[in-house]
Amino acid sequence: MGLPHPPELGASALPPRTFDEHVVMVTGGGTGLGKAIAVEFARLGARVAIASRDEAHRRAGVSAVEAVGARGFAVACDIRQPDTISAAFDAIETELGAVGTLVNNAAGNFPVPAEDMSPNAFRTVVDIVLNGTFNCSREFARRHIAANTPGSMINIGASYAWTGGPGFAHSAAGKAGVKNLVETLAVEWAPYGLRVNGLVPGLFPHRDEVDAIRGVPGRGTHEDVRTPAGRVGYPHELGWAATFLASPYASYITGHTMVVDGANWQRRAMLMPEFVPIREQMGKGPFELNPKKG
Ligand code: HXC
Ligand code: NAP
Repeated sequence: MGLPHPPELGASALPPRTFDEHVVMVTGGGTGLGKAIAVEFARLGARVAIASRDEAHRRAGVSAVEAVGARGFAVACDIRQPDTISAAFDAIETELGAVGTLVNNAAGNFPVPAEDMSPNAFRTVVDIVLNGTFNCSREFARRHIAANTPGSMINIGASYAWTGGPGFAHSAAGKAGVKNLVETLAVEWAPYGLRVNGLVPGLFPHRDEVDAIRGVPGRGTHEDVRTPAGRVGYPHELGWAATFLASPYASYITGHTMVVDGANWQRRAMLMPEFVPIREQMGKGPFELNPKKG
């Protein structure tokens, strides 16, 4: 049987106008899970800014927000570059008003065995996932602290923050840092009226997946039977969790990381399945110190 399917897309547990007059910024909100989160805020009345590098992505995010009757705004930003973040906050403030909720959703990722990973590959992913999250969080908090206004922030994580993630050493290390930041920043910034929470998706396939993720061996096939829940997550289920965490109904919740994954990351077998090294899982041959190009 597995876990039941959720209510239909379009339903909400929160009152209809929960985020009226509220401005939400979603980094990476033009694709996949970020877009689904943006739409759930929009459905509840928020004005939503979509911040990312690619113009087509941003346009898709704004269209999705407008399709449910809300106001959207696209703003260019590379979260690795603090000056672009500050400019994005300025532009959003002018266009929609001050950002009341920040969703740190943007991420970069691709599978590669650690021994094959270049220093720049590691640096690039950590720079997006961890430094980018810190850069946006800092900008958000400084503005609120100076203005003496409350706010809420949600950092999107991954469960390999706890377990490690073979094949994803860069992303797992970055997400572990993101989870740790939630705990530090929640304490530092609660006195200023700012809440900081984490939200971890489990297996949530979607149409916007980049080729590197879509190409993970087995991804997209038989996914329902890979989880105790008997099904994968619907992106709007993550959106519901995000809107709850940012809402006044969660006003005493801070420093918490909520996992939405149907208990997939806790699974163990009485005897674990036969161990398969990561190179083998990825269909890679033996390690070569100096592989021939081409
Ligand atoms: C090995 C790779 C690689 C790959 C890039 N690199 N792709 N190494 N395998 N598949 C290396 C490059 O060779 C380079 O190192 C370094 O990484 C930086 O690459 P650039 O292309 O210059 O980086 P950039 O243009 O900044 O792009 C960042 C990116 C890109 C992360 C590489 O894929 C991106 O923009 N991604 C955004 C979308 C995304 O990744 N979504 C996934 C979200 S997370 P060298 O040494 O050659 O210079 C997610 C979680 C899923 O979905 C859960 C797990 C299943
Ligand atoms: P996705 O569709 O690839 O989204 C990633 C987004 O990040 C893109 O919109 C991208 O937009 C943006 N981005 C990347 N680098 C950026 C940068 N330097 N500056 C600004 N924006 C940047 O991936 P997703 O599956 O929706 O993932 C969303 C979040 O969920 C991520 O934090 C991911 O780690 C997490 N997650 C997902 C799953 C899953 O099953 N899908 C599982 C666990 C965790 P641009 O290209 O336009 O910049």
